[in-house]
Amino acid sequence: MKRQTLAFAGAALLALASSAHAQNDPLAPTGRWSANADGHAPVPPMGWNSWNAFNSDVDEEKVLASARALVDTGLARLGYRYVNIDDGWWLKRRESDGRLIIRTAHFPSAATGKNPSFRPLTDRLHAMGLKAGIYSDLGRNSCGQIYTPDFKNQPEGSVAEREVGLYGHIEQDIRLFFAEWNFDLIKVDGCGVRGLPEDAPRVRSGLYRALPPLVDMQSLGASDVAGVRKLYTEVGRALRVHSHGRPYVYSLCLWGAGDVRSWGKDVGNMSRTSDDIQPLWGRMLTNLDTVTHRALYAHPGSWNDADMLFVGTGDFDQQHEVEARSHFSLWAMLNSPLIIGYDLRKLTPELLAIFGNAEIVALNQDPAGNQAVLAYDSDEVQIFVKTLADGGKAVALFNRTGAPRKAILTAEQLKLLATSEVRLRDLWSKEESSFRGDTELVLAAHETRVFRAGGTRRLADGLYLSEQPGRINPAVDGVPAPLPDPTIHQSITPWVGTRGGGEHVQYGGWGGAEADRAPFGKLLRIAGKPYDTGIGILAGSRLEVRNAGFSRFNAMVGVNDSGRPSDGPVVFEVWGDGKLLARSGAMVFGTPAEALQANVAKVRIVELVARAGNGAVRQPTPQPATWAEAAFLK
Ligand code: GLA
Repeated sequence: MKRQTLAFAGAALLALASSAHAQNDPLAPTGRWSANADGHAPVPPMGWNSWNAFNSDVDEEKVLASARALVDTGLARLGYRYVNIDDGWWLKRRESDGRLIIRTAHFPSAATGKNPSFRPLTDRLHAMGLKAGIYSDLGRNSCGQIYTPDFKNQPEGSVAEREVGLYGHIEQDIRLFFAEWNFDLIKVDGCGVRGLPEDAPRVRSGLYRALPPLVDMQSLGASDVAGVRKLYTEVGRALRVHSHGRPYVYSLCLWGAGDVRSWGKDVGNMSRTSDDIQPLWGRMLTNLDTVTHRALYAHPGSWNDADMLFVGTGDFDQQHEVEARSHFSLWAMLNSPLIIGYDLRKLTPELLAIFGNAEIVALNQDPAGNQAVLAYDSDEVQIFVKTLADGGKAVALFNRTGAPRKAILTAEQLKLLATSEVRLRDLWSKEESSFRGDTELVLAAHETRVFRAGGTRRLADGLYLSEQPGRINPAVDGVPAPLPDPTIHQSITPWVGTRGGGEHVQYGGWGGAEADRAPFGKLLRIAGKPYDTGIGILAGSRLEVRNAGFSRFNAMVGVNDSGRPSDGPVVFEVWGDGKLLARSGAMVFGTPAEALQANVAKVRIVELVARAGNGAVRQPTPQPATWAEAAFLK
């Protein structure tokens, strides 16, 4: 460690440095990438799922018809390969040996004798070049059993026979799904660990056994975050064992509850950020809002899942092409898995043109895996910018409102030079245009315009960190206690209407790490100087960054102006593969940013640590720590 060559801000910091590797220091750099690397989701999974189209009324004919449509229309070739059976496939759990029994009346090919098997169906899907997905629940019972009022195809038999969830059967069921039935994906819902407290009517009536809830959708404080994480982790371990080296996708469905925002990326390949989408404009906004500020929490191998597509239905049906395109464009830009939730037997050329827009799909499937970053944010218009593997840009301008809006797109928002020409290609109309500096665009009500953009990069010889969220993992984001995000659109839920006081959105994430913004929706600004690029995080944090062959790291570091003088100084450290490379002085609120530079040549993992300068590992109100203009250079 070249510690002696670095400037120090006092003896207290010396003590901190020598204890940096101490086991009890949660900010101690490890030199490792700690987000989930198991399973196989280098790009967001794409495909079809039965739930939005059929609810629990699913059967083999419907599944195969949709699979055939994926192949016949060319959608499979575009990447829509997963065919996922959701809730409704099971008949019961056999009491003698605990084996899950398939509802063979609806899945005739599974009637293979004493032990019904999905193997004929998965073989068939595999032979079509597709992949097969199955559905289960972390608890003893499924969402359909607990929440679906009309109860189509629900498990039958005794209380024990109706316990079809994974709880107490993780090894047995995962072995069955993956080693015996050859599935490639599993969606694991969490209703069973949420909806069956002692006093639930369905428990009191004797229908189901009680399971003390691990998550409470109405209260993050009442959720057992460690408990629910442990169970999901156990399922992950079983998947590693029973997939026998075959690629698999592990899809978490905890709807943003249980603070899954902070750990889903460490456990699964995709993780739901919100409660169920509905074919309603307001509900689409709600789901969208739960992913927009989370670009740093998604990367190849683990994606934010805003839920399945409702393109084709309700507010997104053929009479609402503008809305359907918006929904689709936004999901693509934000790297949400593109899972069709439409009865593909009814697919029309118009809908096919949406699902099949190859240039939009390519944004979602871009190998760099950078979720689009909010360049402009308001209740009316949002601008999302996505940096692609070839260094090019995609930009989406989204009108949330029901009236036309004007939007100004600037070269700066694209991190392109304002003095050079910026070329645009409209990915829906296919028109080409160009501008210098900025350009005014008109957005129809609810419209999203999506462009590929090219020009002269502002940073000629490198990449800003905020242009590569796919390579950043906020291993410790400094959030002292999970808080619900108050900026999420609060829609009218169809299941309650306007009864009661309204849905109180509880998706934790308020104050998390952000690209090009400070935590809590604030802009990057240090001592009065605004910065339009950087990483905003809280003190008490550690970011892991994969270095793709760059040799220098530069940043301007300081306490963001959204902090408070009373919350103390922040010290910024840059580590390379576990070795300290650079450290700032103790940065105090209101003082100008300090330049921090490090030689990162040959370093694989760069870690950016922001410590509370007073030595406290966790503060009740940590300062916002800004890595302004953070960039890797050649
Ligand atoms: C939950 C999930 C949905 C769907 C249903 C099935 O509500 O969030 O996506 O799987 O369960 O019952």
